[in-house]
Amino acid sequence: MNITIIGTGYVGLTSGTCFAEVGHNVTCVDNNPEKIETLLKGEIPIYEPGLADLVKQNVAAGRLKFTTSTEEGVKNGDIIFIAVPTPPQADGSVDLSFIEKVAREIAQCLTPEHGYRVIVDKSTVPVKTGDKVEQTVRRYAPEGVQFGVVSNPEFLREGCAVDDLLNPDRIVIGSNDEKALTYMHKLYEPFVAPVLVTDINSAELIKHAANSFLALKISYINAVANICEAAGADVEKVAEGIGMDKRIGRQFLNAGLGYGGSCFPKDIKAFINISETLGQPFGLLKEVERINFDQADRFLNKIREKLWVFREKKIALWGLAFKQNTDDVRESVAVTLAQKMLDEGASVIATDPQGIPTAKKFSNLTGDITFTEDMYAALDGADALIIATEWPQFAAADLCEVAKRLRTPLVFDGRNLLDPEDVKAAKLEYYSIGRPAID
Ligand code: UGA
Repeated sequence: MNITIIGTGYVGLTSGTCFAEVGHNVTCVDNNPEKIETLLKGEIPIYEPGLADLVKQNVAAGRLKFTTSTEEGVKNGDIIFIAVPTPPQADGSVDLSFIEKVAREIAQCLTPEHGYRVIVDKSTVPVKTGDKVEQTVRRYAPEGVQFGVVSNPEFLREGCAVDDLLNPDRIVIGSNDEKALTYMHKLYEPFVAPVLVTDINSAELIKHAANSFLALKISYINAVANICEAAGADVEKVAEGIGMDKRIGRQFLNAGLGYGGSCFPKDIKAFINISETLGQPFGLLKEVERINFDQADRFLNKIREKLWVFREKKIALWGLAFKQNTDDVRESVAVTLAQKMLDEGASVIATDPQGIPTAKKFSNLTGDITFTEDMYAALDGADALIIATEWPQFAAADLCEVAKRLRTPLVFDGRNLLDPEDVKAAKLEYYSIGRPAID
């Protein structure tokens, strides 16, 4: 099929590439000429395992094209995806101005000669946005244009986006338009995944409800971790025990510094705002947010308790990205921690397998911070090691080397990556989340 994706951010670029990979002809549109130029050169603007190769292969096969022209995109695509950002506003509501602008632009490029078009919203949007998209397109399109509107939320995770897209748990298609549904079924024919067809409003709600539920699981286990600390229990064992119940499941029960990234913090805020706008305030999600917010401060208190003061202390920080396998530092708890320690006068030497360039470019860290690619060099003469991102390289660290290089053998593990037995053997003083301390 001929597909157009408007917006080549995380979701747009990876979905477009994966649709090309399964055999569709894809035109990716972005209004940022530098981004399109980068992509035309065969480079990708983000770090995502496996994506760069897929982009190259599909461009070479002639199935994947990039352009800045919406007009070209609208001409080329029987199905036109909107995959532009939906950033948060100060009050927690979602800024839908990019969606509205793209809907208007699509409408203005459509002509009756194009025949029937499907306009699909892939961005994460508040319930009822589909109705607005339909009204906008109808208002701005010339007389006689035929189209259907669909909500098709995306559930990919950064760091495993390609696999999540090619092998999704489910495909959600929301539309009240039978013809649009036929197009969408054909589009997803090459994918082996259950397809759930709903109305537009339900599809939009599924995305916010799913992300909120996952965030709730994380905050739940973090609250349990705090109780474990007070009681001298081990949250890893508790998570294992409750996760063995199939109705609960072990995933997303990793206690730590809390969730970050460009999705959960924004989407939970948005869902709270939506619930209030609809007169059904979702107080439970406010508590999810509060627990998440407090988690970094609790960890900082733990470090402060041992170091006494941060001023003139050298801190080795392992982790900048908001999670493993990504260079994304948006809403990263690691960055929040770094800034708080810098504000209290610490000097921080940070390392991350992918996040250093993005942290330098986007995180606005101020104070005495330096970066090193070498995770062991970061430790030289440091007063403490703080682990803030769950990279597997950190979990596999040589702990004798860690002990040798630190000035004082203090390790604060905000992601429960290290095995307490190994830590003990390396004679490190060790504090983690929801597990008994080793000193
Ligand atoms: C999340 C969802 O998992 C995707 O399904 C969704 O499509 C995406 O948001 C989105 O809305 O676009 P993502 O933000 O890429 O994906 O990353 P996750 O793997 O969900 O991790 C989010 C945060 O939760 C990270 O900071 C991670 O460190 C933290 N986390 C995750 C925990 O603290 N504990 C866990 O057990 C799992």
